[in-house]
Amino acid sequence: MERKQLQALFDEMTLEEKVGQTMQLTGNFFDQSDSAITGPMEELNVSREDLSRIGSILGGTGAADIRRIQTEYLKKNRLGIPLLFMADVIHGYRTIYPIPLGLASSWNPALVEQTAEVAAKESAAAGVHVTFSPMVDLVRDARWGRVMETTGEDPYLNEELARALVRGYQGTDLQMDDTRLAACVKHFAGYGAPNAGLDYNTVDLSEQVLREQYLSGYQAAIDEGAKMVMASFNTIKGIPATGNKWLLKEVLRKEMKFDGVLISDWAAINELIAHGLASNQKEAAIQALQAGVDIDMMSGAYLHYLEEIVEEDESMRKLLDEAVWRILQLKNDLGLFENPFRGADEEREQAELFSPQNRDIARKAVEESIVLLKNNQVLPLEENQKVVLIGSKKNSRDLLGSWSLNGQEAETQLLAEALQAELAPGQLKIVEEKTVFNGLYSYQAADLYQADVIVAALGEESFMSGEAASKSQITLPADQLLLLQELKKLGKPLVAVLFNGRPLDLSDVSLLADGIVEAWFPGTEGAQVVAQVLTGRVNPSGKLSMSFPRHVGQVPIYYNHHSTGRPFTRDKQDEKYLSRYLDVDNSPLYPFGFGLSYSSFSYSQPTVNQSTFTKEDEVVVRVAVTNTSERKGTEVVQLYVHDKIAQVVRPIKELKRFARITLEPNEVQEVTFRLQEDDFTYLHPDGTWSSDAGEFEIMVGSNSEETESVTIQLTNSN
Ligand code: BGC
Repeated sequence: MERKQLQALFDEMTLEEKVGQTMQLTGNFFDQSDSAITGPMEELNVSREDLSRIGSILGGTGAADIRRIQTEYLKKNRLGIPLLFMADVIHGYRTIYPIPLGLASSWNPALVEQTAEVAAKESAAAGVHVTFSPMVDLVRDARWGRVMETTGEDPYLNEELARALVRGYQGTDLQMDDTRLAACVKHFAGYGAPNAGLDYNTVDLSEQVLREQYLSGYQAAIDEGAKMVMASFNTIKGIPATGNKWLLKEVLRKEMKFDGVLISDWAAINELIAHGLASNQKEAAIQALQAGVDIDMMSGAYLHYLEEIVEEDESMRKLLDEAVWRILQLKNDLGLFENPFRGADEEREQAELFSPQNRDIARKAVEESIVLLKNNQVLPLEENQKVVLIGSKKNSRDLLGSWSLNGQEAETQLLAEALQAELAPGQLKIVEEKTVFNGLYSYQAADLYQADVIVAALGEESFMSGEAASKSQITLPADQLLLLQELKKLGKPLVAVLFNGRPLDLSDVSLLADGIVEAWFPGTEGAQVVAQVLTGRVNPSGKLSMSFPRHVGQVPIYYNHHSTGRPFTRDKQDEKYLSRYLDVDNSPLYPFGFGLSYSSFSYSQPTVNQSTFTKEDEVVVRVAVTNTSERKGTEVVQLYVHDKIAQVVRPIKELKRFARITLEPNEVQEVTFRLQEDDFTYLHPDGTWSSDAGEFEIMVGSNSEETESVTIQLTNSN
């Protein structure tokens, strides 16, 4: 529709109709029978007339249902303004990919983009218009269950993956391409930093840290054209995001130049009451509208009070008009006025969901997301070895992880079956855990005694991570640790394969197991690829995007922490008055960027094209990487920068570039990175982003701890 037509439509809308557009309800409101008003309608006090005016639906999917709901709705909606359908398509729709924290371990934006494109294709055919993804909340605390939905602890990796996800979902033309979705970046802002890792808890970030570390992921998604932003539940500077004018108007709209639709999180407008900022729904609605929230997800506050609010205060009309205009524009951008059903098509849905091509991409994603954390010459398994598979995840379909709402466990492979298929007949024995607990001396234990290697498939259940799944202990469940301890007594090589949604405290596991494979929740295709990693058909290449602590007491733990006045270094083991723990090393067990391969790589000292640079110069960094093994393998080469003297305390290192390279046996490849002034800037006390003249250390290596470095000098002038 042309802008003029859209304007004409807008001008015809009554106040009531405008208010309706700002309300979002779940799809089940449209399942009510005609006779009684019960359940969700009653709770939110929504009438049948309201239902003919509301603007959008969340969570309803399936081409047939969506076509039915839209058809019925359009019969009743006076101006024929179609409904928008939104859903949480977080790591795949029906073909489920590894959880985002796993996908991030691929350090492969192009692959991540492909997964988003496939998720869009599947869900667009099922009638979805907008996905509540990407979630780009920076995270540092593995107690928070939602770390599984994020891409980890680093701003730069976050930015690269945020851009990739938005490109994958949205493509280049939402109006013409009905296989794509509008992307909603969330949760703005800082939701990933709740105190003590407790979901929905207070967030208290300094403005420096908020701006330097936390905002850049959202900004990247916005710059890539994300159509929607979701405000977060948490406070920023003491005010919940949903009612925070400074955050949403000054920062998001003005500074970050976001002009799309802003949606609240679930019932978050009401939560302004529980936060103690509003005494009733009406006040809450005023605060949210004043802050610039366009759509009220599931609180009812806008629906019930905006008319009254506008009638009492004329200045609020303009805010409502702006919100409604943005919503209509999004509907128009999606081509809904021309085709209210858009991609919803049962035949297409049938062909697209869980198609062989989509599953191929999922397998590729699993291949690159698995992280080999430890390998004491125990993996890959050898052809003539007798292998025992044990552990609660060996025959479990609980491999999809949280937020896989349309994934089907029935379509999910089992590790036992997958490993059986990869190994020679008779090579694999499946042993039940109870055999171990019934006493290793029972006759059922014979397979264990005869094994050459034992593989224990362990981990968390899906519900243990995700929303409202904070934990104070982040070890494996106790019975699983006990199982490992018992198995260790057999004196056999022991491999732990882990399926989980957060960095775990693996200190015990790392002492007991000779090999550790971090498989995350790998999705529908996960088991087969995990089996192939075990046999060596797939050579692991994933690298952690979040540090694994030695102990939960270390969290929040992250590689890019600030320099302190009393840094603890390895040569100061005997000094007390340093920033150190008495009972545990400061370092993580497995650092950011870490991951092993069946190949081995060595790095040359990095070199630079010159040693002194002006701010206009490009810094060209070169490093030679050698595959020192007889196996073809992939390495993620990482470049970090440290500003040695600055006006604000700097992180000890910051990721600025990375490259995934594949090397034949004994091949040497030169990797070139180019840095510009932007890579050396930070937020100065006067509020400007700029770089300082002086020394910078440039570090290149295979993870955030093992790097080689070179120092350069930045000068103000030629
Ligand atoms: C979550 C969001 C999600 C929304 C809709 C909320 O509880 O915080 O991430 O998109 O529900 O399902």
